[in-house]
Amino acid sequence: MMILVTGGLGYIGSHTVVELLGNGFEVVIVDDLSNSEKFILENIEEVSGKKFTFYPFDLKKKELLSQVFQAHNIGGCIHFAAHKSVGESQEMPLKYYENNLFTLIHLLQEFKDRELSNFIFSSSCTVYGQAEHMPIKEDTPLKVPKSAYGKTKQMGEEILKDFARAYDKKVSILRYFNPIGAHPSGKLGELPVGIPNNLVPYITQTAAGLREFLSIWGNDYPTPDGTAIRDYIYVVDLAKAHVAALKKLLACEENKVIDIFNLGTGRGVSVLEMVKIYEKANNVNVPYRICERRSGDITLAYADVRKAQKEMGWRSETTMEEALKTTWNWQSYLNTKD
Ligand code: UD1
Repeated sequence: MMILVTGGLGYIGSHTVVELLGNGFEVVIVDDLSNSEKFILENIEEVSGKKFTFYPFDLKKKELLSQVFQAHNIGGCIHFAAHKSVGESQEMPLKYYENNLFTLIHLLQEFKDRELSNFIFSSSCTVYGQAEHMPIKEDTPLKVPKSAYGKTKQMGEEILKDFARAYDKKVSILRYFNPIGAHPSGKLGELPVGIPNNLVPYITQTAAGLREFLSIWGNDYPTPDGTAIRDYIYVVDLAKAHVAALKKLLACEENKVIDIFNLGTGRGVSVLEMVKIYEKANNVNVPYRICERRSGDITLAYADVRKAQKEMGWRSETTMEEALKTTWNWQSYLNTKD
C-alpha cells in the first residue's frame, strides 16, 4: 500500500518513513525542504535499504498536490509538514495559519474528492496547556494554546473531527509529548536551524562545545528540584507509533473513526535530571546556568499512555539513556558533514 508522507524528510517524518518501509509500505514523500536537507533522502534509502518517491514542493501549491494524487494510488496519509517554531509563530501568526491550515485543508479536499481515507495528523501536547492533573489523558480538557503554532494544531484537530464525521473518514490524531534522540545508525536526526530552542538539541550542542553553556529556564517551579518537568519520548519509538496507528485505521471496518492518542513515555523528567542523564549517558560535561523562566513555559506535563497501549498495542521501549546516546552519534555525523 502506498502512503503519502508530507514533511517526510523532517525529524519525525524521516524516522517514520524508515519504519513504514520496514513494514512493507510504499512511500511517497512531499517535502519543500524548508526545514530539512536533501541528504536525508539518501540517508533514509541507506538506512532502510528501500527506495521511495520524492516530490520537492510546497503543499500550498494545490495543482502539484493534485498531480501526486493522480499519479499514485494513495492508501493513506501521514501529515507531518508544518511550521513548528513557537517563538516565530508569535511574530508571524499569519504565516503559521496560512501554512499549517491551508495545507491540511488541501490534503483533506483531495481525500474527499477521491474518496480516500486513513489520515494521520501530527498534533502536540501543547493542546492541553498546563493541565490540572497528571498524567494527562486524552480526555483531559483542552486549553486554548498560547502560541499561534499551538492554535494551528488545535484548529487542525477540529477540522479533522468535522472531516471524519461529515465524510465518513478514518482519522488518527497523535499528540506528541517531547520527541528526542536520533536514529541508531547516526544518519538521521533533528537538524536545528540556528540556535536550538528545544532542550535536548541545545544540551547536545553545549556538550559538543558549540555553545558555551545551557541556560536552564527557571529553577523556582513547584517541582522537586525546581526545574520544569516534561515527558521525553524517543523519536524511533514515536515513529513506530505512527505505523501502529496506521495499521489500526487500516484494520478498522467502520468508516467514521477519530482516534486520539497521547504519545509519550508516561514518565516526567526535570531539566536538571535531563542534564545529569545526558552527562552520564555520553560521558560528557554539560555546563549550565540558571536563568529566568521562559515566557509561555508550563511547569509539568507527562502523558497517560495506557490508551495507546491498550488500543494500538504500542508503548515506548527505549530508556532515556539509550535515546540520549543516539544524539551524540548524530552530532558526530553532523560534525563530519561541516
Ligand atoms: C516546545 C514547545 C511545544 C512543542 C515542543 C516540541 C514552547 C513553549 N513549547 O515544548 O509547543 O510542541 O517544544 O518539542 O516552546 N529548556 C531550558 N533551556 C533550553 C531549552 C529548554 O531550560 O535551552 C527547558 C524549557 O524551559 C522546558 C524544557 O526545557 O522546561 C523543555 O523545553 P523544550 O524542549 O523547548 O520543549 P517544550 O517547551 O516542552
